[in-house]
Amino acid sequence: MTDCLTFNAADESQTRVLGAALARVLPGGTVVSLRGTLGAGKTRLVQALAEACGVERRAVVSPTFVLIQEYRGDRPVYHIDAYRLHDEDEFEQLGPEEYFEGEGITLVEWADRVEPAMPPDRLDVRIEVTGEQSRRFAIRAMGRFDVGVLERLRSELRPS
Ligand SMILES: Nc1ncnc2c1ncn2[C@@H]1O[C@H](COP(=O)(O)OP(=O)(O)OP(=O)(O)O)[C@@H](O)[C@H]1O
Ligand SMILES: [Mg+2]
Repeated sequence: MTDCLTFNAADESQTRVLGAALARVLPGGTVVSLRGTLGAGKTRLVQALAEACGVERRAVVSPTFVLIQEYRGDRPVYHIDAYRLHDEDEFEQLGPEEYFEGEGITLVEWADRVEPAMPPDRLDVRIEVTGEQSRRFAIRAMGRFDVGVLERLRSELRPS
């Protein structure tokens, strides 16, 4: 059992497969930090996860006028883009604990910008651009996040 999982997506459809698998295995209250350069696929992954939670795909865009987007699916999905925040104080003012502790899944793009305000027990997803259509996802359980969830994710992603 390891606390890190690597998933190579050859194209966008496989990023959707990963998002859907995450939607199936993540327990309520999970916080996911998303890192990766501009255009790496952070929003695409959120879209895929939200869609698998029953949210209409078009509803999922990067938060612009509001700093936290809430999507109502089978369970709530909260979407924060820290790129739009000045610092972690602004993040704290959003009252993120309320989201972190709820039954929903919270995804934070550019989480490295607000690192000190992120909960220690979370899932970290790093996205690396490996080609025009390909991306490498490194998914790591941080703090006391249950590594069993990663095992379940691994079996969901195993080719059958
Ligand atoms: N395998 C893939 N997975 C995800 N996106 C892909 C993939 N291949 C190509 N793309 C393209 O990469 C882009 C990813 O855009 P996205 O908005 O998700 O990036 P982002 O990481 O959220 O960027 P930003 O930091 O600007 O918010 C899209 O244009 C998408 O079509
Ligand atoms: Mg984005």
